[in-house]
Amino acid sequence: MIKISPSVLASDLSNLASEVVEIEKAGAEMAHLDVMDGVFVANMSFGMPVIECLRNKSNIIFDVHLMIVHPEKYAKRFIDAGADIVTFHIEACDDPRSLLREIRAAGAKAAISVKPATPASAVFDLLDELDMVLVMTVEPGYGGQKFMADMLPKIKELRAEIERRGLDIDIQVDGGINPETAKLTVEAGANVLVAGSSVFRAADRKAAIDALR
Ligand code: DX5
Ligand code: ZN
Repeated sequence: MIKISPSVLASDLSNLASEVVEIEKAGAEMAHLDVMDGVFVANMSFGMPVIECLRNKSNIIFDVHLMIVHPEKYAKRFIDAGADIVTFHIEACDDPRSLLREIRAAGAKAAISVKPATPASAVFDLLDELDMVLVMTVEPGYGGQKFMADMLPKIKELRAEIERRGLDIDIQVDGGINPETAKLTVEAGANVLVAGSSVFRAADRKAAIDALR
């Protein structure tokens, strides 16, 4: 099943609650919440307090993408704030296995992300500890970038390994996803599509979500 997770980074952040309610009503399975610290990536967004306030306004799955250093220091606090899925970057964490276990023990789904330069094989050892792998299809940090088609073989390699081992793991893609690039990633094995600009910059968000699906 294809799941759509619109990234609120491209939404009107002064009306975040109504933006999230709108995509929930439009049939999105999740809301993708990008947390940036200005250190792991050269940009800043929002953190736990915003997510905690938003939690009172919507029941949609909160898919929290941590683009921060030391994710082990903050993961539990994001779960307490309302994160349902916590994704952290393997490049930002010395002991990813412990953190995946901690996230699951705290009752959330655990996911790990790989930047474009990190190979799929970097997460192979961790596949039995996680629920989702996020393959970045742009360099993390900014919305509105161009999809990197050279990430498609990485998605295929990861899907093949997951199938070979008989695991039930989502593959999420993030960056430059629109109806055309979505199709390529799904053919390669992705099943969770993050889309910022192509959903929130569309006049009709429901039509944009339907087009991705
Ligand atoms: C980029 C973020 C993305 C971003 C995607 O670092 O992780 O989630 O919002 O935006 P689009 O869909 O515009 O590329
Ligand atoms: Zn993201």
